[in-house]
Amino acid sequence: MATATARSLSDAARDYVEAGPHRLLIGGERLEAADGRRLASIDPATGEVICEVAEAGPEDVDRAVAAARGALDGALRKVSASKRAGLIYALAELIKANGAELAELESIDNGKPLSAAQGDVAASVAHLRYYAGWPTKIEGETIPVSGRDLFCYTLREPVGVCGQIVPWNYPLLMAVWKVSPALAAGCAIVLKPAEQTPLTALRLGELALEAGFPAGTLNVLTGAGETGAALVDHPDVDKIAFTGSTVVGREIGAKCGRSLKRVTLELGGKSPNIILGDADLEAAVKGSFLGIYSNSGQACNAGSRLLVAAELFDEVVERLAGFAGEAKVGPGLDPDSQFGPVVSEEQFGRVSGYIDSGLADGAEAVAGGRPDGDGGGYFISPTLFTGVSDEMTIAREEIFGPVLVAQPFETLEEVAQRANDTDYGLAAGLWTRDISQAHKLAALLRAGSVYINTWGAGDPAAPFGGYKASGIGREKGHHNLDAYLETKSVFAQL
Ligand code: NAI
Ligand code: MG
Repeated sequence: MATATARSLSDAARDYVEAGPHRLLIGGERLEAADGRRLASIDPATGEVICEVAEAGPEDVDRAVAAARGALDGALRKVSASKRAGLIYALAELIKANGAELAELESIDNGKPLSAAQGDVAASVAHLRYYAGWPTKIEGETIPVSGRDLFCYTLREPVGVCGQIVPWNYPLLMAVWKVSPALAAGCAIVLKPAEQTPLTALRLGELALEAGFPAGTLNVLTGAGETGAALVDHPDVDKIAFTGSTVVGREIGAKCGRSLKRVTLELGGKSPNIILGDADLEAAVKGSFLGIYSNSGQACNAGSRLLVAAELFDEVVERLAGFAGEAKVGPGLDPDSQFGPVVSEEQFGRVSGYIDSGLADGAEAVAGGRPDGDGGGYFISPTLFTGVSDEMTIAREEIFGPVLVAQPFETLEEVAQRANDTDYGLAAGLWTRDISQAHKLAALLRAGSVYINTWGAGDPAAPFGGYKASGIGREKGHHNLDAYLETKSVFAQL
């Protein structure tokens, strides 16, 4: 791997990287792809190869699904609820114990600052601990049916073999969001991380084995979109959970509709963030800045469209541009970096294309608006557009990069209508000191999460997901547990 990166890694992380090429994890064994294919994982801070991983093809998907089915019908079925709880908790502890290494791997694979990756590790631990509480609380019901001497009860059973396809923006955390409720429900899993960021998912699979989950409970197939598609198409997969682009989500939803697989989709967003005239300006500007630029704007719930009360507009823009100008964009392993590069050359091209489209449409970049650095890594400085109309592409489409559009508004009625005038509905936010106005507006906004005087708050217990084109179903909390369970009614004639 690139020597510059290798030098700044701890021994554990360097050893892991240098142990590559990394093989697939199927049924507790490490296997090369059947056709021997591999793909390279790139460090977005340098553009250099970190290491190679196997690229799973249809034959590997077959093997992994068979291993999952074998576990489900075999060893996993025999694991009691309290044992399962203990295994999930043990996995949380192993992630914590290996947290430094996981954070470094995440930082070089995705590009994010090490401190942010450490935050993702901590959130992953919290998520698993939350779901470790559930296996022992999954209960059926007795139903008072009317038939004579008829006894009815329900059983809650694992939905079966789950194909879980995750993105590259929070690679470990998104994998943990998906595997935790599935493990709690007693399902077996084939996990497919994003091709840009395969490393921490492989470590997660290894740690699940170390925690004591039966082989085949959590299989990890590295690969690209074709691998994901083969998983979606596989007839012996019972449920698909996907986080990623709306384009791919629609395709997966359509396929699952035809095959009648269970499906949950967590897709894109263009989330409105509203600063009302009476807001605490300092908190609003700081929160809005982090709400878009954290993770270099690569968050499904990024506050990417800022609507500001007209009387505050100039001041808000000036303050945001000031923060943006001072922001330190650099390699994730550099402790001075506030924001890292975007994840890949492809994403760099996509985001740059949106910046160009904003400029071509006549918007003004009051901060950023150009690529950064010496051309080695995929750096884009925080960009802020004004002079944006509601119809412009940059005001309507998900950019998924460090690009914010700011627009003024005049009235409350107008702002609710404009905020909802989007295909998406993942998140929305508002800043005000007026408590009744806050809750009235929160009720009007058509989004799965609404943030009042904050942005991006979350908890393992609180549901997260999208209205409209932002997805189907909810992650986190007991809501997501339901997505991994079937309900069976049992009738007995007494
Ligand atoms: P993508 O939707 O293509 O990839 C996400 C995951 O789906 C990856 O694991 C990928 O390998 C897999 N995948 C791709 N095509 C598939 C298919 N046909 N069947 C099954 N699995 C498939 O997203 P991509 O190309 O990485 O990013 C494109 C845009 O998607 C971004 O610019 C952003 O707007 C959005 N996105 C949204 C995310 C979110 O958190 N909601 C996360 C990642 C991307
Ligand atoms: Mg794609």
